[in-house]
Amino acid sequence: MEEFVIQTENLTKDYSSWFRKTPNPALKDLTIAIPKGCIFGFLGPNGAGKTTTIKILMGLIRPTGGTASVLGKPYDDVEIKNRIGFLPDSPAFTPSLSAQEFLDVCARLLKIPGNVRKQRVAEVLEIVRMSPHTKSKIGTFSRGMLQRIGIAQAILNRPDLLILDEPLLGLDPYGRQEFKEIILGQKHDFRASVFFSSHILSDVEEICDSISILNKGRLLCAGPISRLLAGGGNGLTVEIHNCDEAVKELMTSADNVKKTGASDWELSFAQKTPELAAKLDALGAHGGETVKVRQTNDDLETFFFRKIEEDNAIKS
Ligand SMILES: Nc1ncnc2c1ncn2[C@@H]1O[C@H](COP(=O)(O)OP(=O)(O)OP(=O)(O)O)[C@@H](O)[C@H]1O
Ligand SMILES: [Mg+2]
Repeated sequence: MEEFVIQTENLTKDYSSWFRKTPNPALKDLTIAIPKGCIFGFLGPNGAGKTTTIKILMGLIRPTGGTASVLGKPYDDVEIKNRIGFLPDSPAFTPSLSAQEFLDVCARLLKIPGNVRKQRVAEVLEIVRMSPHTKSKIGTFSRGMLQRIGIAQAILNRPDLLILDEPLLGLDPYGRQEFKEIILGQKHDFRASVFFSSHILSDVEEICDSISILNKGRLLCAGPISRLLAGGGNGLTVEIHNCDEAVKELMTSADNVKKTGASDWELSFAQKTPELAAKLDALGAHGGETVKVRQTNDDLETFFFRKIEEDNAIKS
């Protein structure tokens, strides 16, 4: 049984060409292991090396060094291809075909038997909310509609592993919501594992179990989101029970105030400043009040920026 659906060790890629004196190091010693059943977000700024990694995993380019296995087999093993659903960063479609015709061709290439092909194509068109456009030519589709067709072809074969390069690109808020439902559905209904790159960090935070962050070809961190974000924030959340004049004064300086009960409030402070600490100390000594202070976790976006800025500061 495969414990990890993707495993890489010191995976490295230098792009070299005849006009370059020195090769362009796109990926440096990437070592990651993605557990079976996981929804994994692969993050990093433009040029970080995400597409390069995905192309290696799909056997489209060869690494300069290191090893990679997918579904327990070497990345270039042809037998695993039918168990992977893949959405490339710039998918190519045939504009003269209708959505149904295009997906039928994909289904034939995936060797989906004739007796279930039509039904499966209709099923995925329904999942990506493109049923009304079944007979429309792909050449007439918008960016987001094309992306939906790309996602549809990736799930045609009910794959064990989905590898998606920026699947949220071009989708409107409805499309993004539907995509999240599709991914969670693939995980729960077909026990699929999902590995996808994205710049939409709020969506990644919502559906991913684990993430990794790449910067300039190097891995900065990887692991379950809950573990990475735990206790790392700069802010404070203050729970107040019973409000008196001193608490009212604190409220005016809070970044956000939420009433949580008849005489309960939750105050959020983005930064833990010395002035705030002094005010909280004073409140604690005030008597009669219940004041609970806890450190706020970073959201993924704040965590991402912090990691990238820390890394860029080391290198510059
Ligand atoms: N075919 C190529 N030849 C030379 N250099 C390349 C090639 N493809 C990518 N690179 C370089 O490799 C580095 C990583 O690129 P890659 O496309 O993997 O980044 P990415 O993380 O997918 O970025 P984005 O978020 O913009 O999609 C970049 O410096 C890029 O210029
Ligand atoms: Mg890319």
